[in-house]
Amino acid sequence: MRKAAFALILAVVSYIALNAFNVSAQMGRGMMGPGGGTGWGVGAFRSNGERIYFTSTSDRGAEITYTGGPSHGGWMMMGGRLACVSCHGPDGRGGKHSMGMMQVMDAKDIRWSALQKEFDFEKFRLAVVKGQDPDGTQFNQDMPRWNIGNDDLADLISFLKKLP
Ligand code: HEC
Repeated sequence: MRKAAFALILAVVSYIALNAFNVSAQMGRGMMGPGGGTGWGVGAFRSNGERIYFTSTSDRGAEITYTGGPSHGGWMMMGGRLACVSCHGPDGRGGKHSMGMMQVMDAKDIRWSALQKEFDFEKFRLAVVKGQDPDGTQFNQDMPRWNIGNDDLADLISFLKKLP
């Protein structure tokens, strides 16, 4: 019983922390329109894929960790906690992020409608886990390398397929 209460408090606190991060991250980069993507909270996700996209946590339990990611412009100040939405945006269409000192990050459109010509499941997996472009080259370091399992990847693709 105590354990359950503790887990609940932990969940609530981490949700608050996560939302604070997302709001400040979006204000910091000024990429999102009014109200863009900040309205989620506990139970706001319609699917596990959506949850992963917005929080890099999964219904399967484990936090989805990563290596790499941008190291400049204060991005690491957020405790290094990123999710796909941080760069590819709430609509999945990506966009340019200013990182200071005239550096610009160009996060790609990753709606499945945009990816499907080039990507299948395996190519998507290699891109997300190993940072490998279907043409065989490596993405730059701005795209983190994610420790994510195949089931979660499949859920993520289902979510990307639903983005208009
Ligand atoms: C810190 C920013 C950042 C985060 C967070 C991020 N990405 Fe990326 N992503 C990028 C950038 C930048 C590129 C382009 C890299 C390049 O062209 O070298 C990219 C490229 C991609 C591509 C290749 C698209 C193409 O058309 O070649 C896929 C797929 C992708 N990201 C999926 C994801 C997924 C799924 C997540 C969440 C698990 C995620 N990304 C999180 C920055 C990010």
